Amino acid sequence: VRSAAEMAAITESDLGFVPTMGAFHEGHLSLMREARKIHDCLCVSLFVNPLQFGKSEDLDKYPRNEERDFAMAGEVGVDILFAPAANEIYPRESTIVHVPEITDLWEGSLRPGHFDGVATVVLKLFNLVKPRTAYFGWKDLQQCLVIRRMVEDLNVPVSLSFLPTVREADGLAMSSRNVYLSPEDRARAPKLRQTLIALAKALSVEDRSVASELEVARKTLVGQGFRLDYLELVSLNDIRSTLDTKNAALIVAARLGATRLIDNLRLGADVI
Ligand code: PAF
Repeated sequence: VRSAAEMAAITESDLGFVPTMGAFHEGHLSLMREARKIHDCLCVSLFVNPLQFGKSEDLDKYPRNEERDFAMAGEVGVDILFAPAANEIYPRESTIVHVPEITDLWEGSLRPGHFDGVATVVLKLFNLVKPRTAYFGWKDLQQCLVIRRMVEDLNVPVSLSFLPTVREADGLAMSSRNVYLSPEDRARAPKLRQTLIALAKALSVEDRSVASELEVARKTLVGQGFRLDYLELVSLNDIRSTLDTKNAALIVAARLGATRLIDNLRLGADVI
């Protein structure tokens, strides 16, 4: 489906929805397979949303491969692939959805406007697709919390399902941006996950100082050649830094070369 009007005209009572920006990898496919098992009708959107990219970010370079994506969606049994044009989604300057508080930190502060772009497009897509349930990957943990908050605050009639991060055999979280890694950086990249696991184990021992364990882990990553944006223990309620390991997650963003990697580990919830 190419046009928003056509999409809006479809009324399926049991529709599962996976919003994506294309360049499918196993992470996307696992969301689709899960939704496929549950719903009568499965819709996947493929839209590289210009509103969520900063001026200096990689909108023009973002990996695009529609033909391959179409073929993969067919194999997974997607019923509707919704791939609208940008000028149809944004025919004029758009009203913006701004989720407060949880967008101030981490990805929100490093990528100003990013979550306004995400919240705006996700709400527009929900309104066009009218899903019963929408599926997102936990890899973008802050994005999951932002969408959850938007849906609660604006009473959006959709249920949300957040599914575990899919990883390469060596533990690197799957991401469309991994293709940018040089061979040396690709070999180094799994250290991000390994460091989170070591840190989670250290924090599970009673009386360990959260602040000093975080510092050790930060130094490990920098020593491995990562340029660290942040490595923090945060509350899953409000994504603020916390020293309390209950209902908390480790979140990390770091660069290798020009590639920015993010990952997270939910203490007590993720298998380590
Ligand atoms: O996670 C993504 O791919 C995007 O942020 C999303 C949710 C499809 C909105 O453009």
